[in-house]
Amino acid sequence: MTMETLEFQAEARQLLQLMVHSIYSNKDIFLRELISNASDALDKLRLAKLQDGLEADTSDLHIEIEVDAEARTLTVRDNGIGMTREEVVALIGTIAKSGTAELLGKLKEAKESPELIGQFGVGFYSTFMVADKVELITRKAGTEGHGTRWESAGEGTFTIDDAPDAPVGTAVTLHLRPKDEDDALYDYTDAWKIKEIVKRYSDFIAFPIRKTSGDEVETLNSQKALWARPRSEVTDAEYHEFYKHISHDWTDPLEIINMKAEGTFEYEALLFIPSRAPHDLFQRDARRGLQLYVKRVFIMDDSKELIPDYLRFVKGVVDAADLSLNISREILQQDRHIQMIRRRLVKKVLSTIKDLMSSSPEKYATFWREFGRAVKEGLLAEPDNHKPILEIASFGTTEGTEPTTLTAYIERMKEGQEEIYFLTGESRSQVENSPHMEAFRAQGYEVLVLTDPVDEIWVDVVGEFDGKKLRSIARGAVDLPKDEEKPEPEGDFAPLLGFLTEKLTEQVKEVRLSHRLTTSAACLVSDADDITPALEKMYRAMGQEGPRVKRILELNPNHPLVSGLRAAHERSAGDAALPDTAELLYGTALLAEGGDLEDPARFAKLLADRLAQTV
Ligand SMILES: Nc1ncnc2c1ncn2[C@@H]1O[C@H](COP(=O)(O)OP(=O)(O)OP(=O)(O)O)[C@@H](O)[C@H]1O
Ligand SMILES: [Mg+2]
Repeated sequence: MTMETLEFQAEARQLLQLMVHSIYSNKDIFLRELISNASDALDKLRLAKLQDGLEADTSDLHIEIEVDAEARTLTVRDNGIGMTREEVVALIGTIAKSGTAELLGKLKEAKESPELIGQFGVGFYSTFMVADKVELITRKAGTEGHGTRWESAGEGTFTIDDAPDAPVGTAVTLHLRPKDEDDALYDYTDAWKIKEIVKRYSDFIAFPIRKTSGDEVETLNSQKALWARPRSEVTDAEYHEFYKHISHDWTDPLEIINMKAEGTFEYEALLFIPSRAPHDLFQRDARRGLQLYVKRVFIMDDSKELIPDYLRFVKGVVDAADLSLNISREILQQDRHIQMIRRRLVKKVLSTIKDLMSSSPEKYATFWREFGRAVKEGLLAEPDNHKPILEIASFGTTEGTEPTTLTAYIERMKEGQEEIYFLTGESRSQVENSPHMEAFRAQGYEVLVLTDPVDEIWVDVVGEFDGKKLRSIARGAVDLPKDEEKPEPEGDFAPLLGFLTEKLTEQVKEVRLSHRLTTSAACLVSDADDITPALEKMYRAMGQEGPRVKRILELNPNHPLVSGLRAAHERSAGDAALPDTAELLYGTALLAEGGDLEDPARFAKLLADRLAQTV
């Protein structure tokens, strides 16, 4: 193999562009990123030896920082797993993260946006904030022959070449840009600056980080596993840096949770609840799960077995004392102890949130805004936890703009109200303006406004809270206490209802009078046991074709259109205009709740014809 010049993948090129033009003001973090990569590489080498029997010397795993003030270079070296030539091209030349293109688009729009980039993690490329040339020399552990040398100025291309004498591991050398303190570009050959950065960002790294200058060697970090230290001895700043290291988030966490179990099965856990949702919270292929350690030895990242999917935003470390270092993912899934730890973690996370509700309502509100949608998935996944999950949940309501808990809703329930009323829909305004709401609003009943797709499902699965049934106001019959102000409808509607039921037999299963309308002429409701149209739509979107469920058309007997219709039908049941009016009535009811007409063109024509008669 000889020297080649290759191009960065398009997304990688864009990200590099952003780095070179430094959109992020805190340039110090490049060192944290390099140390983090080196630490990962050391973990990987130790694991390869442990689990795959790779022959490697792991007696002195470490990270070394070396500076040359004259040449203005800084090198971060590790004796970890290293990379093959193919790996260097694939790992350093491309970005394999999902959502990259989308995020880069957003980043370009919003120039100074550390939050956005923090959601993403720029890793190795952050070196180009401080260097105008980067060299990487590496050799993969367990491979024969030579290593690989990579070099780039961070523009469109990089070169790759053989490196005959490279030792196992990786060395990254930065050719530093001139210092420019106005631009937060410090002198990174300065020993104090390096010490400060390492202490701030990387103190907890489990391997020694050594600084060498001449013959002098100094270890810069304490290497203490944060989760093993009593909370009182660790500063918030230290926890925050650790959180950023494991989560790749750049913002401080919302809450820190320590756990320690002693006895037959010992473990320690340090969990974090982030303060905002990652951009890929609802992407299937996103990374999730906790880090698993066994007696301080890193075993695996993204251990999904330790935390259920609905709490996938929780980050952290679990260090179990009694697991085998060889434990595989397959075994983890079945391991009794792991399942027990998982149950305890869930309990602890839920109770922590519950405490936040009273101790720090603002934090709780942030939590729910960011993660509520995900948490509600737990209502489907964990029947045993309905209660604790509902206790920490909040929902939109017709009573004010702030979300309410179910407990608070129940406290506000009116005399004689037995059920928790809710209405689902795609948006708050759609729900609030739905005809189903009319009588409830008129009589002052509070209704929960549920607008997340998952709401359609959990309400059915859960059924009740605290002995109170959850009741959709768009389903079944409504028997609100009588509204005294409403006049009794005049005349007999039975013949009209019979006529309409027959005319609309394709569309609805029944036409009946309504108690839920005050201003609208008509609305559609589902039978108490039928699935709702929204659910039907969701199933169809998932490729499950079910039978179309017909609904019930309810008419407001006090509306002039409906009473007029009754009179017209009474005068002449054969009136040729009646069937069209029936269709228009049905169509309007469908539109009012935000539904889709089956044949919009036909509806438009009927309506235009009818309007033409009135002008
Ligand atoms: N010192 C190293 N030793 C071995 N492999 C490395 C080293 N540095 C980087 N790599 C490889 O290059 C990849 C890209 O590194 P980069 O820091 O950009 O992303 P990352 O570490 O995967 O994610 P993050 O954005 O969280 O840093 C790594 O996943 C790793 O496989
Ligand atoms: Mg990295």
